[in-house]
Amino acid sequence: MAKLWGGRFDGQNESWIDAFGASISFDQKMAAQDIKGSLAHVSMLAHTGIITAAEADKISAGLNSLQEKLAQGNLEFTIENEDIHMNLETYLAAEVGPVAGKLHTARSRNDQVATDMHLYLKDTVSQLIPKIQHFRDVLVEKASENVHTIMPGYTHMQHAQPLSFAHHLLAYYEMLTRDQTRFIENLQRIDVMPLGSAALAGTTFPIDRFFTAEKLGFSQVYNNSLDAVSDRDFILEFLSNSAILMMHLSRFCEELILWCSHEFQFVELTDSFSTGSSIMPQKKNPDMAELIRGKTGRVYGNLFGLLTVMKGLPLAYNKDFQEDKEGMFDTAETILTSLDIMAGMIDTMKVNKEQMAKATESDFSNATELADYLASHGVPFREAHEIVGKLVLSCLKRGIYLQDVSLSEYQQIQDVIGPDIYEKLSSYNAVKNRHSYGGTGFSQVEKQVKAAQVQLQKEKETQ
Ligand code: ARG
Repeated sequence: MAKLWGGRFDGQNESWIDAFGASISFDQKMAAQDIKGSLAHVSMLAHTGIITAAEADKISAGLNSLQEKLAQGNLEFTIENEDIHMNLETYLAAEVGPVAGKLHTARSRNDQVATDMHLYLKDTVSQLIPKIQHFRDVLVEKASENVHTIMPGYTHMQHAQPLSFAHHLLAYYEMLTRDQTRFIENLQRIDVMPLGSAALAGTTFPIDRFFTAEKLGFSQVYNNSLDAVSDRDFILEFLSNSAILMMHLSRFCEELILWCSHEFQFVELTDSFSTGSSIMPQKKNPDMAELIRGKTGRVYGNLFGLLTVMKGLPLAYNKDFQEDKEGMFDTAETILTSLDIMAGMIDTMKVNKEQMAKATESDFSNATELADYLASHGVPFREAHEIVGKLVLSCLKRGIYLQDVSLSEYQQIQDVIGPDIYEKLSSYNAVKNRHSYGGTGFSQVEKQVKAAQVQLQKEKETQ
């Protein structure tokens, strides 16, 4: 079959070469965006008098009919037509005849493909933001139910100091809020139109790029035609924001996986987010959490893939760019689904409040309380630290905890210690007393829950 670019060629590619060069197997995901871009372009061509209104009407009717066929799943694409742009143009010619050939006036596939990707990511990020927001909603809701749920806080995976479970959940709320902000900023760079840059240098036709941009809903156009067709920063930014988002989800998943284990039993995921084993009848595996953790690898890979593709490319278009799409689609699909799964998993998970609190009772996570108690009674903190360290060592040898040490022993160690030490040592009070701004104290966490609710409400009202 003759290629749309075949004029200069005597010979033909063999089909396996065509297959290597083709992108249609994946770039058909941008078919709707490609048609939308063409519709805007054609109306600009008529608006500026580059083609007649009658020609534009014909082409637009053909494009609308393709849009309909696409929505009904009635367009089949072929490798011979290489990519989505040429597949659609070939279909358009079949719909409206030779006038279809006027559509590509003052346009190149270079600015066309870049425009499609801007439109695709605009759609994706617009779907993504409410999903992040929904997950933040779920986190805040769970947090509000767990302000007084005590859990061990860890550093180095060792019991460190007790925490409110709500505080732990709100830490993820904060991370997801930053993620959302990053994507909102990313949108500013996505919302710029390359179309009208043509191959690389602009065009001799009297086009009106601002007219096209308005039709397509872009708030800006690229200032430099060379930059417009060479730029993939907006995708890299998307991939990098996605990598950070997935890293957050993955860390949370790691914790969920631990918390579901027999050793922890802090939470239970519902059956709908778990799977069984084909051999061990007792198993209930947190597969979805493991998969999100695992898929983080491909999202990182997609970022590194594109960074590597880009690093040696001279301006402007190089066919290497065709490698920018699969990773972008894959990341988009992965993060959209991962967010749905995370929200569902956290929303429906059962929190074993007693088990969590119990884990703070037979440990030394109240050692800081004792040191702080001494320090607040005038003992320099470094000295207090030393005293408590020694006492922990002696308790370990005796197989007891700080709350089991008698008052007389305490008073022998330091006479400032009174009977009120025991209430200070309870993990509940250890949490309650941490009133410092941003700390885990109930009063602070309650404020954080409220602030998050207000923030989410405000975001929804301004959307
Ligand atoms: N399929 C190509 C891509 O994805 C479209 C742009 C082709 N441009 C060109 N000059 N060969 O990059």
